[in-house]
Amino acid sequence: MKKFEGKVVLVTGAGHGIGKQIATQFAQQGANTVIVDYNTETGEKTAEEITTKYTKSLFVQADVSSPEAMMNVRQKVFEEFGRIDTLVLNAGVAFKNKVNNITFEEWNKTLSINLNGLFTTVKAFYNDFLTNQGSIVYISSGSALSGTGGGVSYPASKAGGEGLMRGLAKELGPKGVNVNAIAPRLIDTGEMMRVNYPTQEALDAVLEKIPVRRFGTVNDVANLAVFLADPDNSYIQGQTILLDGGRTIA
Ligand SMILES: NC(=O)c1ccc[n+]([C@@H]2O[C@H](COP(=O)([O-])OP(=O)(O)OC[C@H]3O[C@@H](n4cnc5c(N)ncnc54)[C@H](O)[C@@H]3O)[C@@H](O)[C@H]2O)c1
Repeated sequence: MKKFEGKVVLVTGAGHGIGKQIATQFAQQGANTVIVDYNTETGEKTAEEITTKYTKSLFVQADVSSPEAMMNVRQKVFEEFGRIDTLVLNAGVAFKNKVNNITFEEWNKTLSINLNGLFTTVKAFYNDFLTNQGSIVYISSGSALSGTGGGVSYPASKAGGEGLMRGLAKELGPKGVNVNAIAPRLIDTGEMMRVNYPTQEALDAVLEKIPVRRFGTVNDVANLAVFLADPDNSYIQGQTILLDGGRTIA
C-alpha cells in the first residue's frame, strides 16, 4: 500500500512550479489531491494530468487571499472527498522593490497573498484538523532568514509566515497535527531563472556560492514536503528546514 493512499492533500498555487510537483508527488504516493490556484488554465491542466496518470485530482479556482474563496474551497473538498489530511501552503508572489520605491499597494498585495493567504487557508480547515489530525507544510523561503531575493515585502511576508507556522505548531501539536516549513533558496522552476539570470556568466556566479554546485529542483522541495507530511516523521514539529545546497552556511 502506498504511503498516502486514502488521504487527501491540498496544495495552494499548484498550477505551476513547486506546487505542481508537490501535488504530483503526493499523488504518486496514492493521495487524492486538491489543486488550488487563481489561474484556471494551469490549475485545470495540472489536475487533469494528475488524474490521468495517478489518482483523482480536483481543481478549485481561488485566490488564497480571499477568506470567502477559501471557505468555498473547503466546501468543494468535502463534497468531493469528505476529508482533509494535509495542507501544503505554497502559493506565493514576489515583488522586488526596495523601501525607497515600493508602493503601499505592492506591500499590501504581497502580505495579503503570502501571509494572509496562509491564514485564510488554515482558518477554513481549522476545525477539520481538530478531529482528523494530519499535517501542514508551509513553503517559506530562505529570504525569511537572509532578507535577500525580493526587495522588502517578500522576506517580510515569509518571515511572518514562519511565525504563523510556529504558533500553529504549538496550537495544533497537542491535537496530533504536524506543522513545519521548508525554506528553499534558488529553485529552478524554468523560465523565471532565465529572466533573473539571463547569461551563463550570471548563472555561474550564483552556482559558485552553492557548495553542492547545482540549483535546487522542484523535486528537492517536493521530496521534503512528502517527508514532512509523513506520520512516520511526526517528531519533527514547528521547524523550518533550509533547503539551499549549503548556500547560507557558505
Ligand atoms: N522558485 C524559487 O526559487 C523559490 C525559492 C524560495 C521559495 N519559493 C516559494 O515557493 C512557492 C512556489 O514558488 P514557485 O517558484 O513555484 O512559483 P510559481 O510562480 O511558479 O507558482 C506559483 C503558483 O501560485 C499561484 N498563485 C499565486 N498567487 C496566488 C493566489 N493569490 N491565489 C492562488 N494561487 C496563486 C500562481 O498562479 C502559480 O501557479 C512560493 O511561495 C515561493 O515564494 C520559491
